[in-house]
Amino acid sequence: MNDQVMSPEQRAANLKGMGCARKRVEDVRFTQGKGRYVDDIKLDGMLFGDFVRSPYAHARVVSVDTSEAMKVPGVVAVLTAQDLAPLGLHWMPTLAGDRQMVLADGKVLFQGQEVAFVVASDRYAAADAVEKVVVEYEELPVVVDPFKALEPDAPVLREDLEGKMTGAHGPRRHHNHIFTWEQGDKDATEAVLAGADVVAEEMVYYHRTHPSPLETCGCVAAMDKVTGKLTLYGTFQAPHAIRTVVSLISGLAEHNIRVISPDIGGGFGNKVGAYSGYVCSVVASIVTGKPVKWVEDRMENLMSTAFARDYWMHGKIAATKEGKITGLWCHTTADHGGFDACADPTKFPAGFMNICTGSYDIPTAYLAVDGVYTNKAPGGVAYRCSFRVTEAAYFIERMIEVLAIKLGMDAAELRRINFIRKDQFPYQSALGWEYDSGDYHTAWEKALNAVGYDALRKEQAQRLEDFKAGKTRKLIGIGLTHFTEIVGAGPVKNCDILGLGMFDSCEIRIHPTGSAIARLGTISQGQGHATTFAQILASEIGIPADNITVEEGDTDTAPYGLGTYGSRSTPVAGAATAMAGRKIRAKAQMIAAWLLEVHDDDVEFDVDRFVVKGAPERFKTMKEIAFAAYNQAIPGLEPGLEAVSYYDPPNMTYPFGAYICVMEIDVDTGVHEVRQFYALDDCGTRINPMVIEGQIHGGATEGYAIAMGQEIAYDDMGNHKSATLMDFFIPTSWETPTYQTDFTVTPSPHHPIGAKGVGESPNVGSVPCFSNAVHDAFRPFGLTQSHMPHDQWRIWKIANDLGLHG
Ligand code: CDP
Repeated sequence: MNDQVMSPEQRAANLKGMGCARKRVEDVRFTQGKGRYVDDIKLDGMLFGDFVRSPYAHARVVSVDTSEAMKVPGVVAVLTAQDLAPLGLHWMPTLAGDRQMVLADGKVLFQGQEVAFVVASDRYAAADAVEKVVVEYEELPVVVDPFKALEPDAPVLREDLEGKMTGAHGPRRHHNHIFTWEQGDKDATEAVLAGADVVAEEMVYYHRTHPSPLETCGCVAAMDKVTGKLTLYGTFQAPHAIRTVVSLISGLAEHNIRVISPDIGGGFGNKVGAYSGYVCSVVASIVTGKPVKWVEDRMENLMSTAFARDYWMHGKIAATKEGKITGLWCHTTADHGGFDACADPTKFPAGFMNICTGSYDIPTAYLAVDGVYTNKAPGGVAYRCSFRVTEAAYFIERMIEVLAIKLGMDAAELRRINFIRKDQFPYQSALGWEYDSGDYHTAWEKALNAVGYDALRKEQAQRLEDFKAGKTRKLIGIGLTHFTEIVGAGPVKNCDILGLGMFDSCEIRIHPTGSAIARLGTISQGQGHATTFAQILASEIGIPADNITVEEGDTDTAPYGLGTYGSRSTPVAGAATAMAGRKIRAKAQMIAAWLLEVHDDDVEFDVDRFVVKGAPERFKTMKEIAFAAYNQAIPGLEPGLEAVSYYDPPNMTYPFGAYICVMEIDVDTGVHEVRQFYALDDCGTRINPMVIEGQIHGGATEGYAIAMGQEIAYDDMGNHKSATLMDFFIPTSWETPTYQTDFTVTPSPHHPIGAKGVGESPNVGSVPCFSNAVHDAFRPFGLTQSHMPHDQWRIWKIANDLGLHG
């Protein structure tokens, strides 16, 4: 059957457009070992870089002796801060408006900090020479506790900021203080708390963790001294922004810099920022005239690249006796490590933490966040999260549980009576956001029914009876979560990174034979953009997704964009893709009308063609139209069929979800078993259900790791205690729970195709859900709050502290 006689349904199925569970086209390469990652790049004469790193968390660097290292065969250069200083490159700007040492300049502020960069003809020689660099340190007092860092006599960490009482985000009130960020109405919230029937108060800690992507960070810098062009391959989540930053700090003209993000083995926020390795590789390549590769190992990745979370959130929540929430107060102490290298839009030093009113209609709220320097690695990235939304969701979902305990209420019912109602959207939150759309009650009922909530509670009550009667040593916890995300930064008027507005882009070229290439300003790190963005276009322009190549990550060919993180690709670049597709369609309509010898208004789009209105037998397929664009001289129209769209979103999108976890906990051993995990997600219009399901499974597994064991821990001396995968928990298939996924569809009213982001949602939603399950199991024994991660020892300790071990 050809496309002339197929039914509209068959033609639509042929396109594999929106809503189709199309298999990921990337996987043909990945499953056959044909991926091309940074470490796969091998260039003629390539040199290798490796770092000398500090064993101390806080120390003065008295001297660095590189003479023995230079004698190691194959060593070409050893760079120190002194070498970079004349170039002004011994410090670099951070995304948060701070500055960070590229190589230790007089002191070190965290264990694993970069002190010297060895460049050699092979990686082994570089590693050998690292051992030969002699660094004399003078230890200084270490501070790893952000509360102690703010004590009057705490050691001064950032001597370079001495006397500066103003930072990038306003006044600093202490030598280790970075900023205070306030949102909402403090006085009104305190008045509500003072007059409330009930106030629940708790300190909610979201521990330090790390994105730990499968592929660590790295780059290959190749300076061509003949053409004057620098090509920089790297694990970059925002290649265009990197190009601009490299141009600004190196002085190289931006058109002479080509940044290429090849295949990236996961990012999760870890690959957004700039690292010393990038700067040192570029300098080394410029100096030697040879390509220089730097790829960190796992320990380096865990010790020195961007961490996530580390928020101490002190909360108070006020309600009536009946459980209607009247106010929310939160003060957060944010541990940012030795430099403020958080990756947030410029105006949001604590990201979108002010989404912490969650899914609830809370009339009055106040949030203050204090950023603090400590002797830990810098970072503060959105680990599969849209800029501190994970912290916000964990905070409010724990506070709801704590309030339910105080009120003696069922936590599902407490949520139900406080949800923002469907008719309240667009909803203005007390902390400044306009939620675009939502239907929380429908999602909640669907979730509770799907798991048989009432029956589960009865089973739990019976188990408790049996436990008290000595018939079992296992408790049941039922974890509930209803989260609201905020994803898709821009809009440009609110959101920029280093002054670059957070729009995104898509450029489409239709070839004469009716196939196409689309290039975007984003970059997939496993999310399947090549699959799903082709589906958006297939539906918009009527060309089969299989005939559309999607390309990202090369700044010489892709239009400027702000990259992929914070689930922004679909809300921003996805919208740009649809809008560029619509431009193609508008021109195609004119071409079709000319070919059919009717007025433009007399043809209409029908799946993969334009038909004459009222005469469906008269049509031109997109394939025919594409050919005509290149072989006909059409009066008033330029040849060709191309379009570009730069999309500045009018608002962010607000995906949401209802998650429920049923967990069995062995009180004597602290061992847990996730019996059921139900995840209902609403990401608006769904582009590819199978890709979405994959995103949920991956994100929920990362959430499981974070909630149940994953932690970046330090001892009091600032020694890193989780620098290997023996210590840092990454679940294998053996530990990973089974997930039951579900959905509702509440389109975004402002997105061209109604889609919201989804990649981050399962991490945002699952962490409080797992954690709430642990807490819920011990609720009858008086537990209100305990800190994550809930590893076996910590669960055992909860039981022990509650006197359950007899
Ligand atoms: O920015 P990032 O790609 O990490 O996140 P995203 O925009 O949430 O998209 C993750 C993947 O899910 C992409 O392949 C999207 O096209 C797909 N997706 C979808 O199929 N339908 C949606 N409504 C949202 C995302």
